[in-house]
Amino acid sequence: MSESLVFAPSAAAIARTRTTAAQYEEMYARSLSDPDGFWKEQSQRIDWIKPPTRIKNTSYTYPDISIKWFEDGVLNISANCVDRHLATRADETAIIWEGDIPGTDDKVTYRQLHERLGRFANVLKANGVKKGDRVTIYMPMIIDTAVAMLACARIGAVHSVIFGGFSPDSIAGRINDCDSKIVLTADEGRRGGKTIPLKKNVDEALLKTPGVERVIVVKNTGNAVAMQAGRDVWYADEAAKVSADCAPEPMNAEDPLFILYTSGSTGKPKGVLHTTGGYIVWASLTHERVFDYQPGEIYWCTADVGWVTGHSYIVYGPLANGATTVMFEGIPSYPDAGRCWQVVEKHKVNIFYTAPTAIRALMGAGADIPDQYPMPSLRLLGSVGEPINPEAWLWYHKHVGKERCEIVDTWWQTETGGILISALPGAIAAKPGSATKPFFGIKPIVLSPEGKLQEQTKAEGVLCIADSWPGQMRTVYGDHARFVSTYFETYKGYYFTGDGCRRDEDGYYWITGRVDDVLNVSGHRIGTAEVESALVAHPKVAEAAVVGYPHDIKGQGIYCYVTLMAGEKGDDALKTELRNWVRKEIGAIASPDLMQFAPGLPKTRSGKIMRRILRKIAENDYGALGDTTTLADPGVVTDLIENRQNR
Ligand code: PRX
Repeated sequence: MSESLVFAPSAAAIARTRTTAAQYEEMYARSLSDPDGFWKEQSQRIDWIKPPTRIKNTSYTYPDISIKWFEDGVLNISANCVDRHLATRADETAIIWEGDIPGTDDKVTYRQLHERLGRFANVLKANGVKKGDRVTIYMPMIIDTAVAMLACARIGAVHSVIFGGFSPDSIAGRINDCDSKIVLTADEGRRGGKTIPLKKNVDEALLKTPGVERVIVVKNTGNAVAMQAGRDVWYADEAAKVSADCAPEPMNAEDPLFILYTSGSTGKPKGVLHTTGGYIVWASLTHERVFDYQPGEIYWCTADVGWVTGHSYIVYGPLANGATTVMFEGIPSYPDAGRCWQVVEKHKVNIFYTAPTAIRALMGAGADIPDQYPMPSLRLLGSVGEPINPEAWLWYHKHVGKERCEIVDTWWQTETGGILISALPGAIAAKPGSATKPFFGIKPIVLSPEGKLQEQTKAEGVLCIADSWPGQMRTVYGDHARFVSTYFETYKGYYFTGDGCRRDEDGYYWITGRVDDVLNVSGHRIGTAEVESALVAHPKVAEAAVVGYPHDIKGQGIYCYVTLMAGEKGDDALKTELRNWVRKEIGAIASPDLMQFAPGLPKTRSGKIMRRILRKIAENDYGALGDTTTLADPGVVTDLIENRQNR
């Protein structure tokens, strides 16, 4: 598919946009030449208790990485997301909830949200939560989850939301890592017609978390769950004891707001820490500009709040902008592949933001499904989480957007807090497959893998960012050295994204995927090292190597090479056992797609596994293995090729 396809902004998008092409150029240039002046102005979008006088104070000088924005400012995010809208839009809808079961829905106005979050905040206080404490949230996609996040922000507690698909072991690891003494959960969640045993998973996790003293349980499905006396309480009982009146805690701009665990190329998932002032300036400004959000519009991001997309673009960004944000409990394929389009028509959604994996899955179900829904309210489509292949882009544009909606392909990461590279509707022409141009304050640079700056416009290599922006993560919780080594050691003086990219002759960025050992499976980030350590924890496994391979729907699939202990028999039953084992250790999202029993793995003479070779075989591209002469035993490769699983 051609890179020369260009979709210029439509006349309608140009007529309404907040940012014209000329304004984009002008603001972008100023954001780089005068960051203090630019961000001082932009920070005024936030209601500060004490406005900042110091704007940018950041250093990328290895190893003294230090990132502070608006550091003497004081604010409260929940007040910015809710209280400040009461004067103008108290009775407008803040959140529309669409249940997993068709026909179930709910909504809260800003006034109701204010009341609910105040009450939840008082429940947290009454249960001993103080400013700076870490609160683990393992909850379904219901309004109470957004309320719980805002309630933490209200009192200055730091939330750590864990996606509902993670297993008890994963939950325990995250709780212990941030030493969280309290867990907020629900009896059960619903997703795609199934119930998810959230409370049961928490109970299992808590067998391994000595520090947890309190579990607050929201009643959701109403099915019976075990409650441990002295530890577990029902939210409704606690809520009945407190008032809804809770003054927002004044927070310093650099006080922590949340921790979100994400996978890296090595070791356990790391706790990405975001702080208060810079994060909310970034989340709200990007939400407003990238989606050209204007008052009264209905905005729907299909992500789960367990991921950063849900944090920044379901909860914090939209609510800070006084938007109406849709929270969808279900999945695009349930009860059928028309669900999203029914929901768009039902709630008159104007802006729809989803992931390429969902688009590809819906594409597979047939264009005749979206073709039955005219969706006249739709104006803008967004994509996030992985590279969108031009075929999917064009399908999205034609069958969902009816060739009338703009598409913004937004590139960013958990670490970046919000969108860094994206088209702005009405300002930047789209090219299917390209995330296009950098947002204000972002200076992407392309380096050769060896670290040489590629100065010419047309370039290919690894993607780094030259300087800090307000939404950037500040540290890895409890492990600043890991923050410095992961993002600032390989390419000194820059933030290293872990992604490869191409920059074309027009200065457009094309993200080519991870260059490290991180997989992107259905838009979910999975570290190969995590899957490997789960596999080798099984008593029958001696060694494992995990790589990605191209998968039509998921983007990447998980390919596992497993060497068994002497005497073990590698058969289909063991494959199932190991697959279930990984699901138990990490969660269903890390479930291996293909598994190959390998008597030996290709290693150098110094014992290093040659992953390049394993990747090629997994990709079924074994004709191009390159140099295998440095292998300790070149014979293992023949066996690996013969028994490859992806043909
Ligand atoms: O490889 C990039 C890919 O997703 C990674 C970040 O994953 P995560 O932290 O889970 O955040 C996902 C949601 C922001 C990136 O390093 N990625 C994300 N968006 C895009 C993308 N790759 C290509 N195009 C995108 N639009």
